[in-house]
Amino acid sequence: MKNKVTTLGQFIIERQSDFPFAKGELSRLLRDIGIAAKIVNREVNKAGLVDILGEAGGSNIQGEQVKKLDVYANEQFIAALGSGGETCAVASEENEDLVPIDTLVSKNAKYLVCIDPLDGSSNIDVNVSIGTIFSIYRRKHEEPASILSEFLQKGTEQVAAGYVIYGSSTMMVYTTGKGVNGFTLDPSIGEFCLSHPDIKTPSTGNIYSVNEGNFKHFQDGVKAYLRWCQEEDKATGRPYSSRYIGSLVADFHRNLLKGGIYIYPSTKKAPNGKLRLLYECNPLAWIAEQAGGKASDGKNRILEIKPESLHQRVPLFIGSPEMVTMAEKFVSEGG
Ligand code: AHG
Ligand code: MN
Ligand code: MN
Repeated sequence: MKNKVTTLGQFIIERQSDFPFAKGELSRLLRDIGIAAKIVNREVNKAGLVDILGEAGGSNIQGEQVKKLDVYANEQFIAALGSGGETCAVASEENEDLVPIDTLVSKNAKYLVCIDPLDGSSNIDVNVSIGTIFSIYRRKHEEPASILSEFLQKGTEQVAAGYVIYGSSTMMVYTTGKGVNGFTLDPSIGEFCLSHPDIKTPSTGNIYSVNEGNFKHFQDGVKAYLRWCQEEDKATGRPYSSRYIGSLVADFHRNLLKGGIYIYPSTKKAPNGKLRLLYECNPLAWIAEQAGGKASDGKNRILEIKPESLHQRVPLFIGSPEMVTMAEKFVSEGG
């Protein structure tokens, strides 16, 4: 049939055979994330109405407390993961400690979820794209006492990872290690529909994305790479264009499709950069690699870093493989 639409739900069921030993739990978990994303999307679209309905953090016309959107998103995702019954605990940017999911259905749950419920939150009030990032691991042992250490698995152990971008349209992009697929939300039917099958990122591009306001604080190698990006050179298409939204998901998504590099390096004040390994860098690193891209901390592959704590930060160089390799070269030579 021409123009056959594949919904996220159908696609997940079709791909269940990719996991011969799974009993459908991972598929159900992904479906639950899709449902929570639709609920958060609805609220994100209403964000412009806060002036009428009440300021986030203050109270609305009914005198009820209006939640900040990142707190709301966190609650929605945790609730969806809790009621689904496949998740044993959640590590979230919004919670200092692990959130154990202690419901009857999740007693023997096999999966651990790391999440940045709302990424780019400084852009919420100004109608700029924001996102959600998630990463899923399988539990290794059954003893509850070991849960924290099980969250500290390397990114190579992820079983699924993805993001939702609430942009000019809303998309969910994810991988289970067999390529990357993107689904666009069709609001008229309320379904994510396969729109970007088997995404591959260009091996090089002409976009670099970095907060250049921090230039003075970057190490010499990063400064030298950025100056190189700005040089004129016909053969390599330089100078590159500078594009920086300030929402990691949105900057990453654009570069994934068009080709480019996103950098959040270490600075003098923040030697490990700003971004979090578990729920920002690892999931996007795996998606980048699955699309033919590359992700590094300037030296090492992101996915091979052994995490030491839940909210650990790492510098991030991610995107088209040739561009990341070139940036690493400048970093190693120190300028
Ligand atoms: P979050 O909103 O989840 O705290 O993440 C913000 C992150 C990321 O989305 C973005 O790329 C980066 O912070 C921007 O930081 P700067 O303002 O320092 O450039
Ligand atoms: Mn974030
Ligand atoms: Mn966030």
